[in-house]
Amino acid sequence: MSGIRTVSPAELQEWGIELKYDAEKVMKDVSDPKMTGEEFVTYLEQNVFKKYWDEHYSWGYTWVMKDDVGAITSWLRLGAWLEWRFASTLGEALGKYAEYIDPEFYSLFAKQLAEEAWHWHIRYKALVHYGGNMDGFNPNIIPEWLDLFIGVLDVAKQDLNHFQIRFVSGINVVEWFSEPHHQGVVDACNKLGKYTVLRDVFEEIKEDERFHYSLASKTWAKHCDTPEKRRIAADIALNWAIPLFLLGRKKRHVLALQKKI
Ligand SMILES: [Fe+2]
Ligand SMILES: [Fe+2]
Repeated sequence: MSGIRTVSPAELQEWGIELKYDAEKVMKDVSDPKMTGEEFVTYLEQNVFKKYWDEHYSWGYTWVMKDDVGAITSWLRLGAWLEWRFASTLGEALGKYAEYIDPEFYSLFAKQLAEEAWHWHIRYKALVHYGGNMDGFNPNIIPEWLDLFIGVLDVAKQDLNHFQIRFVSGINVVEWFSEPHHQGVVDACNKLGKYTVLRDVFEEIKEDERFHYSLASKTWAKHCDTPEKRRIAADIALNWAIPLFLLGRKKRHVLALQKKI
């Protein structure tokens, strides 16, 4: 994918990130002409996503268990910004590329857009509650988030006939990872018996993220009815989005604990 940022194996190694899947094997498996769209969803969830549950739960749990308000506000600054960025990206996708989106999904994407804007609102309120603000925030501190949340439109429009498959495989896919992470945060707040505002915000967002991921799984189930379409989805998710996301989240974890965001 020329012109689009992809993560190198050396970068993953430098940050201690392990890809828990064999992308080539996945590509081969999903090329089975008898596989249905629903089976493709089940395959990805069982053979790829679920392998990350414990790691992402643990990331969410450990940063809160540090019991460090500065680390929490550092995390929330980027979080608040990302919510608004995602809402903007969804708006651009719906505004400019609606003819390449299945109309049955219009209201689902619109609902997601409204929820991402709401998430901005409640994350920002939590940030202020814990004494933080957005002063001097620079989104370039972790460029992988820009590469992902803005770059997804470049990835999707490279092949307009498959715009929706490419879009959800490049962005909604990573929302699967939010549920374990947010659950880790909620459980850590409960364990510490504090940060109830943070806990309630993360509990609410966790429920919405499950729905946002479902826009990917619903798209795959309905539209990934050929080996070619399944390969497009798997290639973008496994070779582009997930490595970029894992690198961004790992950096965020490290930098938030250092209060550098
Ligand atoms: Fe969100
Ligand atoms: Fe979301």
